[in-house]
Amino acid sequence: MNENVTAPLRARAEIDLGALKANVRSLRAHAPGAAFMAVVKADAYGHGMIPVARAAKEAGADWIGTATAEEALELRAAGLPGRIMCWLWVPGGPWREGIEADLDMSVSGMWALREVTAAARELGRTARIQLKADTGLGRNGCLPTDWPELVREALAAQAAGHVTVTGLWSHFACADEPGHPSIAAQLTAFREMTGYAEGEGVTPEVRHIANSPGTLTLPETHFDLVRPGIAMYGISPSPELGPPADHGLRPVMTLKANLALVKHAPGGLGVSYGHHYVTPGATTLGLVPLGYADGIPRHASGTGPLLIGGKRRTVAGRVAMDQFVVDLGGDEPAAGDEAVLFGPGDAGEPTAEDWAVAAGTIAYEIVTRIGSRVPRVYVDGEGTGRPEMRPRIP
Ligand SMILES: Cc1ncc(COP(=O)(O)O)c(C=O)c1O
Repeated sequence: MNENVTAPLRARAEIDLGALKANVRSLRAHAPGAAFMAVVKADAYGHGMIPVARAAKEAGADWIGTATAEEALELRAAGLPGRIMCWLWVPGGPWREGIEADLDMSVSGMWALREVTAAARELGRTARIQLKADTGLGRNGCLPTDWPELVREALAAQAAGHVTVTGLWSHFACADEPGHPSIAAQLTAFREMTGYAEGEGVTPEVRHIANSPGTLTLPETHFDLVRPGIAMYGISPSPELGPPADHGLRPVMTLKANLALVKHAPGGLGVSYGHHYVTPGATTLGLVPLGYADGIPRHASGTGPLLIGGKRRTVAGRVAMDQFVVDLGGDEPAAGDEAVLFGPGDAGEPTAEDWAVAAGTIAYEIVTRIGSRVPRVYVDGEGTGRPEMRPRIP
């Protein structure tokens, strides 16, 4: 495809890098004493990892965070400088490549420490590692019972010159549920586990536990670095925390499609697979050329909202693999007219949070699952209030 195509005809996800940069600055202001790690895993929650990482750094992000080593290595290969941390490792590495690319690599258990140490020894280099504590998420990380052994062996590997422990860190289970008792319990465990490691001689550059809700609402979780993901994309971590604008955030992704067909239909017409929608009377139907292959949740069949011709519409019948139908109630937009599935909401369009409610999921999943068949078009609405189209950033 021509890299300069700015408005692909079928559908597109417009990514407002101006909004992203403003969100980074706003989040930094929430945690003024802490360094900032921009979390860009999963293709930057569907927004495009490399352009987002570059924009986040432009706006002052000190670190970039990914889940997998492959993501972190891709960022390095694209020329991204500075600190990049990744945290989801499996036996086999790729530790060697991680050391050569100067990544900060999370270690959650003894098998990982042994593998990264062996790779560093073979290369004759020092690996940067961060020890992850399971303070109560019950997912990745080292439980308190196994922590003394991990700390002892990490210090031994450090003394031998194979690793440097650059960080001590953890992750919350329920920071998006204000007042949840696990928040205080995890903070206590984090203080105890980091305190133990420091007492044994670890001197971390950074201690960190705050995700988006921690960054936005729990200053006592900020420590040396905050690690937000979803809030950087202008999405509220949960309905309980209020809309993004309450936190000075603006949604970054707007998902649009052009109608593939508009037709007059009689009453009683079964619409889409299974005929779960039947036209209540003579009407007009619009065909939206996006489906579950593009990440439109099939669970939003009959419920997903969108804006067409200034009016809210709802998915009629089932979302299919490549397309779905809306009942236009007799209105006659032209084929090719724009349908906005979600965006910031300024023009009356739904938000990703609205789609999450419609599909019984979270807004994280709505944006992250937008498929690779939907081109990302990068715009920069910074300062103008309105996005300005720019060529695609490769
Ligand atoms: C380890 C880790 N840190 C930070 C984040 C960012 O979380 P959020 O998107 O809720 O800010 C995630 C995302 O799930 C994560 O897995």
